[in-house]
Amino acid sequence: MNIRPVRVDDLPGMQACNLQNLPENYTMKYYLYHAMTWPSLSYVAEDHKGRIVGYILAKMDEDGAEDAEPHGHVTSISILRSYRRLGLAKKLMVQSQEAMAAVYRASFVSLHVRKSNRAALGLYRDTLGFTVQDIEKKYYADGEDAYAMQLSLKP
Ligand code: ACO
Repeated sequence: MNIRPVRVDDLPGMQACNLQNLPENYTMKYYLYHAMTWPSLSYVAEDHKGRIVGYILAKMDEDGAEDAEPHGHVTSISILRSYRRLGLAKKLMVQSQEAMAAVYRASFVSLHVRKSNRAALGLYRDTLGFTVQDIEKKYYADGEDAYAMQLSLKP
């Protein structure tokens, strides 16, 4: 399994992976926006035949006051079912986090996750050390609450 920065020709494979794994889906334009604007923050995991088996789609957060600390945001991450528990998601997260800090001087990384998503919570909280900053009520289209989580990237 190989992990590398996203290329524009990966975007359809990334979108296919997202559609299989998550109810939160995005237009091709939104994938392209990430890949073109922050090319060092999104990565794919590919198998030996170059097929995309997982991805992380990430960006710098542009909201907030001009003097606010720059921070990264994970828009979406997923791994195809038969490639889970191999450490791929952890590697994708760490690669993106390192680029957020090194390239954009991000002081922290944020993300949202469903309160019921045990696997993702295990990855974020137990493996990577994220903490819950807030609960956003009915954040998802089906009414489920989200945990808003953050991890400091300061050395
Ligand atoms: N149950 C509990 N903990 C888990 C699980 C699980 N099913 N899966 C992963 N973890 C935790 C464990 O602590 C694991 O470490 P360990 O294997 O040493 O015990 C750690 O996460 C790292 O696991 P990885 O192998 O790196 O994770 P994986 O590659 O399997 O991907 C992911 C995890 C992305 C959550 C995967 O299960 C998936 O694609 N799920 C569906 C899509 C999804 O929920 N994406 C996240 C949505 S939130 C967002 O995108 C911001």
